[in-house]
Amino acid sequence: MVTDTGVERPWGQQMRDIAARDGRRVVFVTIPAGEAAKQLSTVDTIWNAALDAEIDRSSMVIAVGGGVVGDLGGFAAATLLRGIPVANIPTTLLGMVDSAIGGKTGFDTRHGKNLIGAFHQPRFVLSDIDTLGTLPLAERRAGLAEVVKSAWLDGEAAVQQLERDTGKLLEGDADATVEAIRMAAGLKARIVTADEHESGTRMLLNLGHTVGHAIEASMGYQDIRHGEAVSLGMVTAHRLAARLGRAGDRDAERLQKLLRALGLPVNVDDYLSDRSLAFIGSDKKRRSGRINFVVPGEPGKADIVPLDLSEVVRLVR
Ligand SMILES: NC(=O)c1ccc[n+]([C@@H]2O[C@H](COP(=O)([O-])OP(=O)(O)OC[C@H]3O[C@@H](n4cnc5c(N)ncnc54)[C@H](O)[C@@H]3O)[C@@H](O)[C@H]2O)c1
Ligand SMILES: [Zn+2]
Repeated sequence: MVTDTGVERPWGQQMRDIAARDGRRVVFVTIPAGEAAKQLSTVDTIWNAALDAEIDRSSMVIAVGGGVVGDLGGFAAATLLRGIPVANIPTTLLGMVDSAIGGKTGFDTRHGKNLIGAFHQPRFVLSDIDTLGTLPLAERRAGLAEVVKSAWLDGEAAVQQLERDTGKLLEGDADATVEAIRMAAGLKARIVTADEHESGTRMLLNLGHTVGHAIEASMGYQDIRHGEAVSLGMVTAHRLAARLGRAGDRDAERLQKLLRALGLPVNVDDYLSDRSLAFIGSDKKRRSGRINFVVPGEPGKADIVPLDLSEVVRLVR
């Protein structure tokens, strides 16, 4: 069982109690909390803990935590003994609506985020919203940015539901939270089933991420959460869509209103500079000076449009 120090504190004893009650042999690996731990040396720690415990092909990695734990635990599972099963028990909202589903695993290197990894689907994903009770509000908000992304891809009904449930979602209301997770997880599962290795439709899930990643990278992945960057990225994507004549101003205003109500940043001009824009396309989605940009329209309508990097920069300024 892989977890991190932030999850261990509130939930460690409960995890140990369940493991003891079940009577199975469980080895616990607790890694440091935070993105900085998402590196090869942490994978090595997990590999060695598993090999020291003499695991075999019937063993399983159980990742209990946010996206960092899930991505590392999943990658360790993909590579241990050439592949053993992994199960994800996400404890962040972002994990429940996004990272725990879809089988992308991996870690960061000095060349960038998530550039080394493997596709390795989890045997199951168990989202227990009780765990969100100890999650800091800022982390919940960051997860809600991905919920907004999913709703915008899903369609009008999902967006309206979010607009109605804003307050409840911020308070952690159980029914509203489960409904949002069900919508986002369902959408992601459908898309991944159709295009597991991201050769087409799965790229839609990158809505807001081209510019979001650039902002994160330009800030050295510090002082900004992934979800906050995605919020800014979605606002920017709508600006680009409007300038291409693919979306109306009303859509952009509606999106901003929703993000603002959820406490997410929308003031893109504070973040779009020559320096940050230079990072566009520096991640793996770049294809020879052209990038596949997810251009949104009204809810339920988004297209993958190959654009020249220079054109993207021109359109978002
Ligand atoms: N594999 C994918 O498809 C995919 C998709 C999106 C994001 N990701 C990755 O996910 C990572 C981000 O995930 P994240 O936002 O979950 O961040 P995270 O895993 O770093 O968790 C955020 C913080 O919350 C703490 N935490 C987790 N659960 C808690 C709980 N229940 N109570 C209290 N504290 C808790 C953690 O200790 C950590 O400090 C990034 O590395 C990103 O690349 C992967
Ligand atoms: Zn994301």
